[in-house]
Amino acid sequence: MKNFTSVYDIDNLQDTIAKALEIKEKPLENPTKGKGKTIGLVFLNSSLRTRLSSQIAAQNLGLNVLILNAAQEAWNLEFADGTVMDGNTVEHVKDAIEVLNQYCDIIAVRCFAGMKSKEDDVKESILSQFLKYAKVPVVSLESATRHPLQSLADCITITENWKEKRKPKVVLTWAPHIKPIAHAVANSFTEWMQQMDVDFVITNPEGYDLDKKFTKDTPVIHNQDEALKDADFVYVKNWSSFDDYAAMPKVEGEWMLTNEKLENTHQAKVMHCLPVRRNLELSDEVMDGDHSIIYQQAKNRIFSAQTVFSDILDNLNKD
Ligand code: CP
Repeated sequence: MKNFTSVYDIDNLQDTIAKALEIKEKPLENPTKGKGKTIGLVFLNSSLRTRLSSQIAAQNLGLNVLILNAAQEAWNLEFADGTVMDGNTVEHVKDAIEVLNQYCDIIAVRCFAGMKSKEDDVKESILSQFLKYAKVPVVSLESATRHPLQSLADCITITENWKEKRKPKVVLTWAPHIKPIAHAVANSFTEWMQQMDVDFVITNPEGYDLDKKFTKDTPVIHNQDEALKDADFVYVKNWSSFDDYAAMPKVEGEWMLTNEKLENTHQAKVMHCLPVRRNLELSDEVMDGDHSIIYQQAKNRIFSAQTVFSDILDNLNKD
């Protein structure tokens, strides 16, 4: 693997999940694989899980870890080409990346959707600059349209919790929120579920359909109760409108996930990438109850990151 920005950067999903589960069994088995090498974790946006799980994963492999909370600690970056930088921006992103090239063997970056320009977000205007200017492998720590390390952790978690022979039914359900949220987690989960041996459906209110580029042939059901019927896994996530970009069209009915809504399922396991707004997206009783595998999901972020870093290091160590 050279870069890791989507499911399309891995060769075989089942093999990758199996590798992650092996790493979970023995996370300290290769403590010198990254010896003498440095990973830069660059955060243009806030994080708890991604920052810490990536740091643990890198340390387990013996990598030196540099963390730059760029939004708070670095110079205000300019992303547009050809700009006369006589305003608030102090350093062009291409200069910043060139400098990171001098210090790092792997650059990992978090660059959320700006949620202002659909065109900029869809074309990954920031991640694409990292891919263009980095001379070392680039790992996405969540970009405008995808969150692949989260999705790999989600696949690991589903695999761990499914022992039956039949395919599980996995439902991605929209949940309420107070502000416009990006599509990255939902898009990415959708792409990865399309590669898994599962029956996958999405449920969201009218006006909230995701980008067809990601949903493809996945059924989108606008009635949540109908979609939840017989579910084995329910993934809860908010996102704003894609068609009317970043808008929050009025929603009919109650979409927060509760125990009552789970009665129609096969004792479904409940997932969420976190952070979650309790009693808005899902109820306390769901979050704290037996259905939830949400903290297990968060733990698996370590092994998702470690699997990806390990694969990239294998490639670097070959050169
Ligand atoms: N799920 C996730 O990416 O969490 P953070 O935003 O805290 O990193």
